[in-house]
Amino acid sequence: MIKTLRKAVLPVAGLGTRFLPATKATAKEMLPVVDKPLIEYAVDEARAAGIEQFCLVTGRGKTALVEHFDIAYELEATLRERGKHAELRALRENHLPPGAIATVRQQEPLGLGHAIWCARSFIGDDPFAILLPDDLVLADVPCTRQLADAYHETGGCVVAVAEVPRAQTSRYGILDIGRDDGRLVEVRGLVEKPRPEDAPSNLSIIGRYVLVPEVIGFLERMDRGAGGEVQLTDAMAKLIGRVPFHGLRYQGRRFDCGDKVGFLEAQIAFALKRPDMAPAVRAFLKNYVTDGAGPDA
Ligand code: UTP
Repeated sequence: MIKTLRKAVLPVAGLGTRFLPATKATAKEMLPVVDKPLIEYAVDEARAAGIEQFCLVTGRGKTALVEHFDIAYELEATLRERGKHAELRALRENHLPPGAIATVRQQEPLGLGHAIWCARSFIGDDPFAILLPDDLVLADVPCTRQLADAYHETGGCVVAVAEVPRAQTSRYGILDIGRDDGRLVEVRGLVEKPRPEDAPSNLSIIGRYVLVPEVIGFLERMDRGAGGEVQLTDAMAKLIGRVPFHGLRYQGRRFDCGDKVGFLEAQIAFALKRPDMAPAVRAFLKNYVTDGAGPDA
């Protein structure tokens, strides 16, 4: 019997070195795209997939991430007094039921696999989703919803996958693929950050997964992989052949917000989706980029 997916782990203990100095005293996952921090997009996406229990894997200097999900009573009272109803609504949208959000600490950033292992008590014997908040997916059906649907169809593990240019395989976890119906791809093997000439395909895993709890047993070994880190991909690879394992070509567009250019692209794409902002942003881009006009033109 396939267990219903109710839990999500959100690892947020990385150092965010690519965004220094912005991330010196602020968590990368608190950086906003338009007016919402990355962490809130991830939690919203998980909730839209039926997730009810959340675990943030945090580290030093990440307190704001947890406080973001507290109720700001004084602020809400002030907004109410001042009649700022839209702002009040925006704050209330992120209220989670009491006890829905838990945190565990990863004292040292030893890798994504290690971060997930830190959440082992939260995971228990249940299937769980992983969302890396710095991957943002713009989609009509939220990406985790698409994954959850595929998981309830197939059971086992399902990871969101996208084609990447072959020259870039060394940045990603890459699939060795079997049967492929254009949507679901059977996973035969997984390799973390292979050189283009060694890559078994150009299908890469993005920061959305549904995994079975058995992965914890393989993480437990703390084998070091690419970059000397405990790699989630290596532990997942050990599940292949033991449980069904699929890649899902999700519908939508992914932005790598852990990268400066990806983060800027996300700002533009999400602003262009907002009716209150799109005309001004489009006009700015047209003048500034297309017509080559300078800032004062
Ligand atoms: P990244 O590979 O983007 O690393 O982690 P990072 O430290 O956040 O950023 P850079 O590369 O130094 O700029 C992907 C996700 O995994 C989490 C990060 O917080 C991010 O959400 N992570 C990574 C951990 O929680 N712990 C780790 O040890 C490593």
